[in-house]
Amino acid sequence: MSYAKLHGIVCDSHPNDKNQKHFTLLFITTLGSRPSTMAILVTGGAGFIGSNFVLDWLADSDEVVINLDKLTYAGNLQNLASIEDNPRHIFIHGDIGDAKLVTALLTQHQPRAVVNFAAESHVDRSISGPGAFIQTNIVATFQLLEAVRAYWGALDTKRMGDFRFLHVSTDEVYGSLEKNELAFTENHRYEPNSPYSASKAASDHLVRAYHHTYGLPVVTTNCSNNYGPFHFPEKLIPLMIVNAQAGKPLPVYGDGQQIRDWLYVKDHCSAIRQVLAKGQTGQTYNIGGWNEKPNIEIVHTVCALLDELRPRTDGMPYKAQIAYVTDRPGHDKRYAIDASKIKNELGWEPAETFETGIRKTVQWYLDHAQWVSQVQSGAYRAWVAQQYGATP
Ligand code: NAD
Ligand code: TYD
Repeated sequence: MSYAKLHGIVCDSHPNDKNQKHFTLLFITTLGSRPSTMAILVTGGAGFIGSNFVLDWLADSDEVVINLDKLTYAGNLQNLASIEDNPRHIFIHGDIGDAKLVTALLTQHQPRAVVNFAAESHVDRSISGPGAFIQTNIVATFQLLEAVRAYWGALDTKRMGDFRFLHVSTDEVYGSLEKNELAFTENHRYEPNSPYSASKAASDHLVRAYHHTYGLPVVTTNCSNNYGPFHFPEKLIPLMIVNAQAGKPLPVYGDGQQIRDWLYVKDHCSAIRQVLAKGQTGQTYNIGGWNEKPNIEIVHTVCALLDELRPRTDGMPYKAQIAYVTDRPGHDKRYAIDASKIKNELGWEPAETFETGIRKTVQWYLDHAQWVSQVQSGAYRAWVAQQYGATP
């Protein structure tokens, strides 16, 4: 059973149920004196990138992390199991669009920064049900910005100047590149093509407007496709690893020639830390790993690693499980990030190559079979059945 600690009070009810109110009320009754330690507020910190960020942050700094997450299907407290006894991690089950709750958190913990990961993040889900994307990525992000603006506006001059709102976004806002076009720079026009990328683009614009209009000290990062530990197995790389292991088809959309630019998640987290520390307010920073690869090559790489690390008992290669399926509607052909600005201005570069990162990732999934089976809840199975039919 998962649980969260609020100011030393252990709540042994599972937060993924009707007890949400209980959690919130419990928290609000503890509102009181200003904390002496520095804190940051992370939203969406139980998701894939957010949980990696929280784990790395707590390992690298002395600050408190307030982690606000709605625990949608993509949020998973198991990702944070290794820090469940860490008093510097305060998990709050709630919505970034709940202005009352966000205001209470800001007032109590006086964070010096907000890092906003919370979002609906899966393109295919945005195609079959865009409403949740509009609600969280646009409406709730606006509500978060409003609460943060009010909090920030009441800080003293020094703390106002030091405060940062870091908005985590995606390269998908730039749309699709042809093979011969240059990689996205920060000046590339916004041309989002899916409901997901359009909703992220809208949130980027709101964040930009809050800087331009109200002076809120924001920075935005636009990152390429991530992969690594705790990646929900609805996205390409973890889905391939999990399906391969389960003896299921490996569904490749269309001809598999679409190109993505892959970055190991821990490198994304180190880039965000660097932008938070050194980024200029009002600026945007593209983050990428200079690792453009067609999807089919990714799938072949995963299969080859599994052949080496956990061969099939029948001696067949995993690539025999590849199944070409109907293409995604409006499928973007190619994303590619030019990460020169963050390198030249902030000195950030990825630590992993694709070869080292993907090997670590496949090994992580092999070592964490229990995590995989836990995330494959009823809701997950329903999604797979709807997206791919009953078999995969
Ligand atoms: P994810 O779907 O794994 O996690 C999202 C988290 O946000 C979940 O824990 C979910 O419970 C939480 N959440 C959703 N709605 C919420 C709400 N209204 N209030 C509070 N919490 C809420 O996503 P991810 O892959 O970790 O992506 C994190 C961020 O990074 C997103 O903003 C995404 O757009 C961006 N991004 C992702 C990638 C990628 O490859 N995954 C690449 C670039 C940028
Ligand atoms: P995904 O991981 O969903 O990320 P995004 O759409 O945000 O780039 O998909 C990565 C690529 O892999 C994308 O071109 C779609 C493709 N894909 C498949 O071919 N099969 C799959 O089952 C999935 C989930 C994705």
